[in-house]
Amino acid sequence: MKIGIVGAGFVGSAAAYAMVMRGVGTEIVLVDRNQDLAVAQAEDIHHATPFAYPMPVNAGDYEALAGSCVVVLAAGANQRPGETRLELLERNAAVFGDIIPRVLAAAPQAILLVATNPVDVMTQVSLEIARRTSPDFPVGKVIGSGTILDTARFRALLAKHLGISPKSVHAHVLGEHGDSEVLHWSGADAGAMPISDFADQVGHPLTDAVRAEIDQGVRGAAGKIIKGKGATWYGIGGGLARIVQAISDDERAVMTCSVVNPEVAGVQNVALSLPRIVGLEGVLGTIHPHLDKGEMAALSRSAGILKEAVT
Ligand code: LAC
Repeated sequence: MKIGIVGAGFVGSAAAYAMVMRGVGTEIVLVDRNQDLAVAQAEDIHHATPFAYPMPVNAGDYEALAGSCVVVLAAGANQRPGETRLELLERNAAVFGDIIPRVLAAAPQAILLVATNPVDVMTQVSLEIARRTSPDFPVGKVIGSGTILDTARFRALLAKHLGISPKSVHAHVLGEHGDSEVLHWSGADAGAMPISDFADQVGHPLTDAVRAEIDQGVRGAAGKIIKGKGATWYGIGGGLARIVQAISDDERAVMTCSVVNPEVAGVQNVALSLPRIVGLEGVLGTIHPHLDKGEMAALSRSAGILKEAVT
């Protein structure tokens, strides 16, 4: 499966590298307004293919995206230290207004996978732009990375506390990929039982203090990394590669990612993350999780914040 990536900066190149290392897809094309950067990134990543999965990794212009089944949209400005993802919106919405028509001109059938922040609003903006070109562009083919990385952070921190593999922890982060995100504690499980029971059994109870520490660890992860190195890219690059893998392999995997929802927690027409079934055609279905009262109120607040940002 051919994969296009628009934006060969930190996130786009990290996603391409993660795809090569995981053997996702059969060909990658990098597009960037800085052609020298795209060429250099493609060459550098291609040199890793003998250590991983041989596949062509090239740089090109928008026309080179022809035949791509998925195009990752990672172009735009990065969050500045102390800047919220929503404050990035103006700068990046303008960038997408230029690139999406050019992507769809080359690859009209491609799934658009949005990585650029604020990713939920950018997902909704991307669907609106795509529908200017193709009025029936399917909602499920405009996917935002959403909280796939937050969910990974949540699982990793829970697993560390419990002393088990993160692959044995099922826990989701819902809503905005941002400050209002919702950790779905009441739905978290390990060992086929509620996570709090599992924690008690293994002698690492989830006390209020532990929950608060994990919550802050997830919510504050990006800000902490940005303070240290200016941006994040490996975590999101891995998350993007995981979503593309589910598409490429028609996995029908359940993962939290962002698409426009007709209604969530009383808020109409808003893009945010819920558990989605992801396969070859993009998002094939959405799961509406059982939430406790506090979680439902938090999801409704998150949806309201995103609705306000996009109107
Ligand atoms: C982060 C960026 C991708 O959470 O928003 O690392």
